[in-house]
Amino acid sequence: MLASRPVTPELPQRPPFALRARIISPLAEGGTRHEPDGLIQVEADGRIAAIGPATGRPREIDGAIDLRPWVILPGLVDLHAHLPQIPNAGVGFGLTLLDWLRRYVFPLEHDFDVDAAERIAPAAFRAFAAAGTTTVLLYGALWEPSLDAAFRAAQEHGIRATIGKVMMDRFTYDEGDRTPAETLELSLRQSADLCSRWHMRDAGRLRYAFTPRFAVTCTAEMLRESARLAAEAGALWQTHLAEDAGEIAEVLRLFPEAMDYLDVYDRAGALGPHAVLAHAVHLSDREVARLAESGARVAHCPASNLFLASGMMPLARYLDAGIGVGLGSDVAGGPDLSIFGAMRIGAYAQVARRAAGLDDRAVLDPLAWLRLGTLDGAAALGQADVTGSLEPGKEADLIVVDPAVTDPLRGEGPDWDPTDPEELVSRLIFRTHPDMVLGAWVRGRRLAGPA
Ligand code: GUN
Ligand code: ZN
Repeated sequence: MLASRPVTPELPQRPPFALRARIISPLAEGGTRHEPDGLIQVEADGRIAAIGPATGRPREIDGAIDLRPWVILPGLVDLHAHLPQIPNAGVGFGLTLLDWLRRYVFPLEHDFDVDAAERIAPAAFRAFAAAGTTTVLLYGALWEPSLDAAFRAAQEHGIRATIGKVMMDRFTYDEGDRTPAETLELSLRQSADLCSRWHMRDAGRLRYAFTPRFAVTCTAEMLRESARLAAEAGALWQTHLAEDAGEIAEVLRLFPEAMDYLDVYDRAGALGPHAVLAHAVHLSDREVARLAESGARVAHCPASNLFLASGMMPLARYLDAGIGVGLGSDVAGGPDLSIFGAMRIGAYAQVARRAAGLDDRAVLDPLAWLRLGTLDGAAALGQADVTGSLEPGKEADLIVVDPAVTDPLRGEGPDWDPTDPEELVSRLIFRTHPDMVLGAWVRGRRLAGPA
Protein backbone atom coordinates (compact mmCIF):
# COMPACT_ATOMS: atom_id res chain seq x y z
CA MET A 1 0.00 0.00 0.00
CA LEU A 2 0.98 3.63 -0.40
CA ALA A 3 1.04 5.37 2.93
CA SER A 4 -1.60 8.03 3.51
CA ARG A 5 -0.70 11.17 5.41
CA PRO A 6 -1.73 11.21 9.04
CA VAL A 7 -2.11 15.00 9.04
CA THR A 8 -3.07 17.26 6.12
CA PRO A 9 -0.61 20.14 5.88
CA GLU A 10 -1.58 23.66 4.85
CA LEU A 11 -0.57 24.18 1.23
CA PRO A 12 1.11 27.52 0.42
CA GLN A 13 -0.83 30.12 -1.56
CA ARG A 14 1.99 32.45 -2.60
CA PRO A 15 5.78 32.39 -2.84
CA PRO A 16 8.20 32.31 -1.14
CA PHE A 17 7.93 28.78 0.24
CA ALA A 18 9.84 25.53 0.53
CA LEU A 19 8.33 22.05 0.18
CA ARG A 20 9.64 18.68 1.25
CA ALA A 21 8.32 15.66 -0.73
CA ARG A 22 9.24 13.06 -3.30
CA ILE A 23 10.12 15.02 -6.45
CA ILE A 24 10.08 13.66 -10.01
CA SER A 25 10.84 15.84 -13.03
CA PRO A 26 12.30 15.50 -16.51
CA LEU A 27 15.50 17.48 -16.98
CA ALA A 28 16.30 19.78 -19.91
CA GLU A 29 19.62 18.05 -20.47
CA GLY A 30 17.85 14.64 -20.65
CA GLY A 31 16.99 12.09 -18.01
CA THR A 32 14.84 12.47 -14.93
CA ARG A 33 15.46 13.98 -11.53
CA HIS A 34 14.14 11.75 -8.77
CA GLU A 35 14.47 12.85 -5.18
CA PRO A 36 12.76 10.27 -2.94
CA ASP A 37 13.07 12.80 -0.10
CA GLY A 38 13.49 16.12 -1.86
CA LEU A 39 13.35 19.81 -1.11
CA ILE A 40 12.23 22.54 -3.49
CA GLN A 41 12.65 26.21 -2.61
CA VAL A 42 10.57 28.84 -4.40
CA GLU A 43 11.63 32.51 -4.25
CA ALA A 44 9.34 35.48 -3.73
CA ASP A 45 9.45 36.14 -7.49
CA GLY A 46 7.96 32.68 -8.16
CA ARG A 47 11.17 31.11 -9.45
CA ILE A 48 12.76 27.91 -8.27
CA ALA A 49 15.82 28.84 -6.22
CA ALA A 50 17.02 25.35 -5.39
CA ILE A 51 15.97 21.73 -5.69
CA GLY A 52 17.70 18.65 -4.35
CA PRO A 53 17.79 16.06 -1.57
CA ALA A 54 16.50 17.13 1.83
CA THR A 55 18.99 15.06 3.75
CA GLY A 56 21.88 16.98 5.24
CA ARG A 57 20.08 20.34 5.11
CA PRO A 58 18.54 20.72 8.58
CA ARG A 59 18.14 24.51 8.36
CA GLU A 60 16.18 24.35 5.06
CA ILE A 61 14.12 21.39 6.29
CA ASP A 62 13.14 23.46 9.28
CA GLY A 63 11.47 26.10 7.15
CA ALA A 64 9.87 23.67 4.69
CA ILE A 65 6.31 22.32 4.60
CA ASP A 66 6.57 18.55 4.87
CA LEU A 67 4.32 16.96 2.23
CA ARG A 68 5.69 13.41 2.34
CA PRO A 69 4.52 10.90 1.06
CA TRP A 70 2.95 13.14 -1.58
CA VAL A 71 4.77 13.72 -4.85
CA ILE A 72 5.77 16.94 -6.59
CA LEU A 73 5.77 16.95 -10.41
CA PRO A 74 6.02 19.73 -12.97
CA GLY A 75 2.59 21.07 -13.96
CA LEU A 76 1.21 19.36 -17.05
CA VAL A 77 1.06 21.08 -20.43
CA ASP A 78 -2.07 20.67 -22.57
CA LEU A 79 -1.02 21.57 -26.10
CA HIS A 80 -4.47 21.42 -27.65
CA ALA A 81 -7.96 22.02 -26.26
CA HIS A 82 -11.15 23.88 -27.22
CA LEU A 83 -12.59 26.10 -24.50
CA PRO A 84 -16.17 26.42 -25.84
CA GLN A 85 -16.48 22.67 -26.40
CA ILE A 86 -15.77 21.54 -22.84
CA PRO A 87 -19.47 21.25 -21.85
CA ASN A 88 -19.90 18.60 -24.59
CA ALA A 89 -17.03 16.38 -23.42
CA GLY A 90 -17.82 12.68 -23.80
CA VAL A 91 -20.70 13.16 -26.25
CA GLY A 92 -20.70 12.23 -29.91
CA PHE A 93 -18.85 8.93 -29.92
CA GLY A 94 -19.01 7.18 -33.27
CA LEU A 95 -19.41 10.25 -35.49
CA THR A 96 -16.82 11.17 -38.10
CA LEU A 97 -14.99 14.42 -37.53
CA LEU A 98 -16.92 16.54 -40.04
CA ASP A 99 -20.30 15.19 -38.89
CA TRP A 100 -19.33 15.72 -35.23
CA LEU A 101 -18.30 19.31 -35.96
CA ARG A 102 -21.59 20.03 -37.70
CA ARG A 103 -23.80 18.27 -35.15
CA TYR A 104 -22.20 19.33 -31.85
CA VAL A 105 -19.29 21.70 -32.14
CA PHE A 106 -20.47 24.45 -34.42
CA PRO A 107 -23.76 24.99 -32.51
CA LEU A 108 -21.84 25.15 -29.20
CA GLU A 109 -19.26 27.58 -30.52
CA HIS A 110 -21.99 29.61 -32.20
CA ASP A 111 -23.53 30.19 -28.75
CA PHE A 112 -20.22 30.93 -27.04
CA ASP A 113 -20.87 34.62 -26.44
CA VAL A 114 -19.45 36.77 -23.63
CA ASP A 115 -21.97 35.43 -21.12
CA ALA A 116 -21.10 31.85 -21.96
CA ALA A 117 -17.38 32.61 -21.83
CA GLU A 118 -17.74 34.34 -18.45
CA ARG A 119 -19.52 31.27 -17.08
CA ILE A 120 -17.45 28.55 -18.70
CA ALA A 121 -13.89 29.89 -18.76
CA PRO A 122 -13.34 30.28 -14.97
CA ALA A 123 -14.80 26.80 -14.37
CA ALA A 124 -12.69 25.39 -17.19
CA PHE A 125 -9.46 26.81 -15.76
CA ARG A 126 -10.31 25.34 -12.36
CA ALA A 127 -10.99 21.99 -14.04
CA PHE A 128 -7.66 22.10 -15.89
CA ALA A 129 -5.83 22.84 -12.64
CA ALA A 130 -7.70 20.03 -10.87
CA ALA A 131 -6.46 17.67 -13.58
CA GLY A 132 -2.87 18.87 -13.03
CA THR A 133 -2.64 21.13 -16.08
CA THR A 134 -0.87 24.42 -15.41
CA THR A 135 -0.25 25.43 -19.05
CA VAL A 136 -2.80 25.33 -21.88
CA LEU A 137 -2.93 26.16 -25.57
CA LEU A 138 -6.59 26.84 -26.36
CA TYR A 139 -8.97 27.52 -29.21
CA GLY A 140 -11.85 29.87 -28.46
CA ALA A 141 -14.80 30.49 -30.78
CA LEU A 142 -15.24 33.02 -33.60
CA TRP A 143 -16.45 35.88 -31.41
CA GLU A 144 -13.88 38.48 -30.37
CA PRO A 145 -15.57 39.64 -27.10
CA SER A 146 -15.72 36.04 -25.85
CA LEU A 147 -11.96 35.83 -26.28
CA ASP A 148 -11.48 38.92 -24.13
CA ALA A 149 -13.63 37.22 -21.50
CA ALA A 150 -11.55 34.04 -21.71
CA PHE A 151 -8.30 35.98 -21.33
CA ARG A 152 -9.71 37.91 -18.37
CA ALA A 153 -10.64 34.61 -16.72
CA ALA A 154 -7.14 33.21 -17.31
CA GLN A 155 -5.60 36.42 -16.00
CA GLU A 156 -7.66 36.16 -12.85
CA HIS A 157 -7.20 32.40 -12.35
CA GLY A 158 -3.43 32.35 -12.73
CA ILE A 159 -3.08 29.51 -15.26
CA ARG A 160 -0.45 29.89 -18.01
CA ALA A 161 -2.55 30.20 -21.16
CA THR A 162 -2.11 30.80 -24.86
CA ILE A 163 -5.47 31.36 -26.52
CA GLY A 164 -6.68 32.19 -30.01
CA LYS A 165 -9.85 33.31 -31.73
CA VAL A 166 -10.95 30.68 -34.22
CA MET A 167 -10.74 31.95 -37.80
CA MET A 168 -13.03 30.59 -40.54
CA ASP A 169 -13.96 32.18 -43.84
CA ARG A 170 -15.91 29.24 -45.30
CA PHE A 171 -17.87 26.22 -43.97
CA THR A 172 -18.53 28.48 -41.01
CA TYR A 173 -21.17 28.94 -38.30
CA ASP A 174 -20.97 32.72 -38.69
CA GLU A 175 -24.32 33.85 -40.08
CA GLY A 176 -23.13 37.43 -40.64
CA ASP A 177 -24.17 39.07 -43.88
CA ARG A 178 -20.72 39.81 -45.29
CA THR A 179 -18.79 39.16 -48.49
CA PRO A 180 -15.95 36.60 -48.22
CA ALA A 181 -13.44 39.46 -48.45
CA GLU A 182 -15.16 41.28 -45.57
CA THR A 183 -15.18 38.12 -43.45
CA LEU A 184 -11.47 37.65 -44.05
CA GLU A 185 -10.67 41.26 -43.24
CA LEU A 186 -12.77 41.23 -40.06
CA SER A 187 -11.24 37.99 -38.81
CA LEU A 188 -7.69 39.23 -39.38
CA ARG A 189 -8.40 42.58 -37.73
CA GLN A 190 -10.08 41.05 -34.68
CA SER A 191 -7.27 38.52 -34.28
CA ALA A 192 -4.62 41.21 -34.56
CA ASP A 193 -6.48 43.39 -32.03
CA LEU A 194 -6.77 40.51 -29.54
CA CYS A 195 -3.08 39.78 -30.03
CA SER A 196 -2.14 43.39 -29.34
CA ARG A 197 -4.30 43.41 -26.18
CA TRP A 198 -3.23 40.05 -24.71
CA HIS A 199 0.00 38.69 -26.17
CA MET A 200 2.74 38.57 -23.51
CA ARG A 201 0.51 40.00 -20.77
CA ASP A 202 1.58 39.36 -17.19
CA ALA A 203 5.23 38.98 -18.25
CA GLY A 204 4.40 36.30 -20.84
CA ARG A 205 2.03 34.16 -18.79
CA LEU A 206 -0.77 35.01 -21.25
CA ARG A 207 -0.04 34.72 -24.96
CA TYR A 208 -1.91 34.87 -28.22
CA ALA A 209 -2.07 32.21 -30.94
CA PHE A 210 -3.41 33.00 -34.41
CA THR A 211 -5.90 30.18 -34.93
CA PRO A 212 -7.21 29.41 -38.42
CA ARG A 213 -9.40 26.37 -37.65
CA PHE A 214 -8.12 24.12 -40.50
CA ALA A 215 -7.82 24.05 -44.26
CA VAL A 216 -11.47 22.97 -44.70
CA THR A 217 -12.75 26.24 -43.16
CA CYS A 218 -10.05 28.64 -44.34
CA THR A 219 -9.14 30.02 -47.72
CA ALA A 220 -5.50 30.13 -48.80
CA GLU A 221 -5.54 33.88 -48.09
CA MET A 222 -6.75 33.40 -44.54
CA LEU A 223 -4.03 30.83 -43.91
CA ARG A 224 -1.35 33.05 -45.44
CA GLU A 225 -2.41 36.31 -43.81
CA SER A 226 -2.86 34.75 -40.38
CA ALA A 227 0.65 33.26 -40.64
CA ARG A 228 2.01 36.67 -41.63
CA LEU A 229 0.36 38.36 -38.64
CA ALA A 230 1.65 35.66 -36.28
CA ALA A 231 5.20 36.09 -37.56
CA GLU A 232 4.98 39.88 -37.23
CA ALA A 233 3.76 39.63 -33.65
CA GLY A 234 6.11 36.82 -32.63
CA ALA A 235 2.99 34.82 -31.70
CA LEU A 236 2.11 31.17 -32.18
CA TRP A 237 0.09 29.93 -35.14
CA GLN A 238 -2.11 26.88 -34.55
CA THR A 239 -4.38 24.73 -36.66
CA HIS A 240 -5.46 21.12 -37.27
CA LEU A 241 -3.69 18.74 -39.67
CA ALA A 242 -4.54 15.35 -41.19
CA GLU A 243 -6.88 14.15 -38.45
CA ASP A 244 -9.30 11.92 -40.32
CA ALA A 245 -9.87 10.43 -43.77
CA GLY A 246 -12.96 12.45 -44.70
CA GLU A 247 -11.27 15.71 -43.71
CA ILE A 248 -8.13 14.89 -45.69
CA ALA A 249 -10.16 14.09 -48.83
CA GLU A 250 -11.99 17.42 -48.45
CA VAL A 251 -8.74 19.37 -48.11
CA LEU A 252 -7.28 17.75 -51.22
CA ARG A 253 -10.50 18.61 -53.09
CA LEU A 254 -10.37 22.25 -51.93
CA PHE A 255 -6.64 22.69 -52.64
CA PRO A 256 -5.97 20.73 -55.87
CA GLU A 257 -2.70 22.61 -56.38
CA ALA A 258 -1.21 21.28 -53.10
CA MET A 259 1.03 18.18 -53.06
CA ASP A 260 -0.64 16.96 -49.86
CA TYR A 261 -2.34 18.33 -46.72
CA LEU A 262 0.83 19.69 -45.11
CA ASP A 263 1.70 21.47 -48.33
CA VAL A 264 -1.44 23.63 -47.96
CA TYR A 265 0.07 25.15 -44.81
CA ASP A 266 3.56 25.21 -46.30
CA ARG A 267 2.34 27.22 -49.28
CA ALA A 268 0.80 29.68 -46.81
CA GLY A 269 4.28 30.22 -45.32
CA ALA A 270 2.92 28.98 -42.00
CA LEU A 271 5.35 26.23 -41.04
CA GLY A 272 8.10 26.88 -38.53
CA PRO A 273 8.87 26.46 -34.83
CA HIS A 274 5.99 28.80 -33.92
CA ALA A 275 3.42 26.50 -35.60
CA VAL A 276 1.51 23.94 -33.52
CA LEU A 277 -0.38 21.42 -35.63
CA ALA A 278 -2.94 19.26 -33.87
CA HIS A 279 -3.36 15.55 -34.61
CA ALA A 280 -1.22 14.78 -37.71
CA VAL A 281 -2.54 11.22 -37.58
CA HIS A 282 -2.14 10.39 -41.27
CA LEU A 283 1.01 11.76 -42.92
CA SER A 284 3.01 10.53 -45.91
CA ASP A 285 6.77 10.04 -45.69
CA ARG A 286 7.18 13.33 -47.52
CA GLU A 287 5.02 15.15 -45.00
CA VAL A 288 6.90 13.65 -42.06
CA ALA A 289 10.24 14.72 -43.54
CA ARG A 290 8.99 18.22 -44.36
CA LEU A 291 7.35 18.65 -40.96
CA ALA A 292 10.60 17.71 -39.24
CA GLU A 293 12.61 20.02 -41.50
CA SER A 294 10.25 22.96 -40.90
CA GLY A 295 10.50 22.75 -37.10
CA ALA A 296 6.70 22.87 -36.72
CA ARG A 297 5.34 21.03 -33.67
CA VAL A 298 2.68 18.37 -33.33
CA ALA A 299 0.02 18.33 -30.60
CA HIS A 300 -0.65 14.60 -30.18
CA CYS A 301 -4.23 14.00 -29.00
CA PRO A 302 -4.57 10.22 -28.70
CA ALA A 303 -7.81 10.17 -26.69
CA SER A 304 -9.54 12.34 -29.27
CA ASN A 305 -8.14 10.25 -32.13
CA LEU A 306 -9.78 7.13 -30.70
CA PHE A 307 -13.01 8.82 -29.54
CA LEU A 308 -13.60 10.19 -33.05
CA ALA A 309 -12.20 7.04 -34.71
CA SER A 310 -9.60 9.15 -36.51
CA GLY A 311 -6.75 6.64 -36.18
CA MET A 312 -3.56 6.05 -34.21
CA MET A 313 -0.73 8.50 -34.78
CA PRO A 314 2.68 6.91 -35.39
CA LEU A 315 4.31 8.70 -32.47
CA ALA A 316 7.61 6.79 -32.43
CA ARG A 317 8.08 7.42 -36.14
CA TYR A 318 7.66 11.16 -35.64
CA LEU A 319 10.02 11.24 -32.68
CA ASP A 320 12.62 9.31 -34.69
CA ALA A 321 12.22 11.89 -37.47
CA GLY A 322 13.01 14.65 -34.95
CA ILE A 323 9.55 16.23 -34.83
CA GLY A 324 8.74 18.10 -31.60
CA VAL A 325 5.63 16.53 -30.06
CA GLY A 326 3.56 17.47 -27.02
CA LEU A 327 0.25 16.12 -25.71
CA GLY A 328 -3.23 17.57 -26.07
CA SER A 329 -6.54 16.63 -24.49
CA ASP A 330 -8.42 18.13 -27.46
CA VAL A 331 -11.52 18.45 -25.30
CA ALA A 332 -14.17 17.92 -26.48
CA GLY A 333 -12.82 15.73 -29.30
CA GLY A 334 -11.12 14.01 -26.39
CA PRO A 335 -13.56 13.26 -23.56
CA ASP A 336 -11.13 13.95 -20.71
CA LEU A 337 -9.25 17.08 -19.63
CA SER A 338 -6.51 15.03 -18.02
CA ILE A 339 -3.11 14.89 -19.67
CA PHE A 340 -2.42 11.80 -17.54
CA GLY A 341 -5.36 10.35 -19.49
CA ALA A 342 -3.77 11.40 -22.79
CA MET A 343 -0.58 9.61 -21.70
CA ARG A 344 -2.52 6.45 -20.88
CA ILE A 345 -4.54 6.31 -24.12
CA GLY A 346 -1.43 7.24 -26.11
CA ALA A 347 0.51 4.40 -24.53
CA TYR A 348 -2.28 1.91 -25.29
CA ALA A 349 -2.47 3.17 -28.87
CA GLN A 350 1.28 2.63 -29.29
CA VAL A 351 0.94 -0.93 -28.08
CA ALA A 352 -2.05 -1.49 -30.37
CA ARG A 353 -0.04 -0.24 -33.35
CA ARG A 354 2.72 -2.71 -32.58
CA ALA A 355 0.31 -5.59 -32.00
CA ALA A 356 -1.39 -4.82 -35.32
CA GLY A 357 1.96 -4.84 -37.13
CA LEU A 358 1.73 -1.11 -37.92
CA ASP A 359 4.87 -0.21 -36.00
CA ASP A 360 7.95 -2.10 -34.90
CA ARG A 361 9.49 0.72 -32.90
CA ALA A 362 9.78 0.58 -29.12
CA VAL A 363 6.90 2.01 -27.11
CA LEU A 364 7.60 4.91 -24.74
CA ASP A 365 8.06 4.20 -21.05
CA PRO A 366 6.10 6.12 -18.35
CA LEU A 367 8.89 8.66 -17.75
CA ALA A 368 9.01 9.41 -21.50
CA TRP A 369 5.24 10.01 -21.41
CA LEU A 370 5.70 12.37 -18.45
CA ARG A 371 8.32 14.29 -20.46
CA LEU A 372 5.94 14.57 -23.45
CA GLY A 373 3.20 15.91 -21.20
CA THR A 374 5.41 18.50 -19.51
CA LEU A 375 8.77 19.65 -20.88
CA ASP A 376 8.15 18.70 -24.53
CA GLY A 377 4.81 20.51 -24.46
CA ALA A 378 6.52 23.58 -22.99
CA ALA A 379 9.17 23.38 -25.75
CA ALA A 380 6.44 23.23 -28.41
CA LEU A 381 5.08 26.50 -26.97
CA GLY A 382 8.54 28.07 -27.00
CA GLN A 383 8.39 28.23 -23.18
CA ALA A 384 10.83 25.50 -22.12
CA ASP A 385 13.01 28.23 -20.65
CA VAL A 386 10.38 29.05 -18.02
CA THR A 387 8.20 25.98 -17.47
CA GLY A 388 7.80 22.22 -18.10
CA SER A 389 10.35 20.94 -15.60
CA LEU A 390 11.49 21.61 -12.05
CA GLU A 391 14.94 23.13 -12.36
CA PRO A 392 16.64 26.09 -10.67
CA GLY A 393 15.89 29.40 -12.39
CA LYS A 394 12.62 28.21 -13.91
CA GLU A 395 9.24 29.49 -12.77
CA ALA A 396 7.62 27.27 -10.17
CA ASP A 397 4.83 25.63 -12.18
CA LEU A 398 4.22 22.48 -10.20
CA ILE A 399 1.61 20.07 -8.93
CA VAL A 400 1.32 18.03 -5.75
CA VAL A 401 -0.12 14.55 -6.21
CA ASP A 402 -1.32 12.01 -3.66
CA PRO A 403 -0.43 8.57 -5.02
CA ALA A 404 -2.33 6.80 -2.21
CA VAL A 405 -5.65 7.33 -4.01
CA THR A 406 -4.32 5.31 -6.97
CA ASP A 407 -3.86 2.25 -4.73
CA PRO A 408 -6.19 -0.51 -6.05
CA LEU A 409 -6.80 -1.81 -2.51
CA ARG A 410 -7.21 1.62 -0.90
CA GLY A 411 -4.57 1.03 1.74
CA GLU A 412 -5.52 -2.51 2.66
CA GLY A 413 -2.92 -4.30 0.53
CA PRO A 414 0.81 -4.85 1.05
CA ASP A 415 3.19 -1.92 1.55
CA TRP A 416 4.32 -0.28 -1.66
CA ASP A 417 6.99 2.40 -1.58
CA PRO A 418 8.62 2.28 -5.00
CA THR A 419 12.25 3.32 -5.26
CA ASP A 420 11.95 3.45 -9.04
CA PRO A 421 10.25 6.68 -10.23
CA GLU A 422 9.07 4.89 -13.37
CA GLU A 423 6.86 2.61 -11.26
CA LEU A 424 5.29 5.51 -9.45
CA VAL A 425 4.66 7.52 -12.64
CA SER A 426 3.25 4.36 -14.24
CA ARG A 427 0.67 4.22 -11.43
CA LEU A 428 -0.28 7.85 -11.97
CA ILE A 429 -0.73 7.30 -15.70
CA PHE A 430 -2.52 3.96 -15.66
CA ARG A 431 -4.57 4.46 -12.50
CA THR A 432 -5.22 8.19 -12.67
CA HIS A 433 -7.68 9.20 -9.96
CA PRO A 434 -9.81 12.34 -10.38
CA ASP A 435 -8.83 13.51 -6.88
CA MET A 436 -5.14 12.73 -6.97
CA VAL A 437 -3.99 16.29 -7.77
CA LEU A 438 -4.06 18.13 -4.45
CA GLY A 439 -2.60 21.43 -5.56
CA ALA A 440 -1.34 23.25 -8.65
CA TRP A 441 0.88 26.35 -8.80
CA VAL A 442 2.04 28.72 -11.53
CA ARG A 443 5.00 30.93 -10.61
CA GLY A 444 4.50 29.70 -7.08
CA ARG A 445 0.96 31.07 -6.96
CA ARG A 446 -1.65 28.46 -6.08
CA LEU A 447 -4.39 27.91 -8.67
CA ALA A 448 -8.03 27.43 -7.74
CA GLY A 449 -9.33 24.03 -8.79
CA PRO A 450 -7.85 21.08 -6.97
CA ALA A 451 -10.00 20.12 -3.99
N1 GUN B 1 -10.77 20.08 -36.89
C1 GUN B 1 -11.30 21.29 -37.11
N2 GUN B 1 -11.94 21.74 -36.02
C2 GUN B 1 -11.81 20.79 -35.08
C3 GUN B 1 -12.25 20.69 -33.74
O1 GUN B 1 -12.90 21.56 -33.17
N3 GUN B 1 -11.91 19.54 -33.09
C4 GUN B 1 -11.19 18.55 -33.68
N4 GUN B 1 -10.89 17.46 -32.99
N5 GUN B 1 -10.77 18.64 -34.94
C5 GUN B 1 -11.09 19.74 -35.64
ZN1 ZN C 1 -8.92 20.28 -31.95
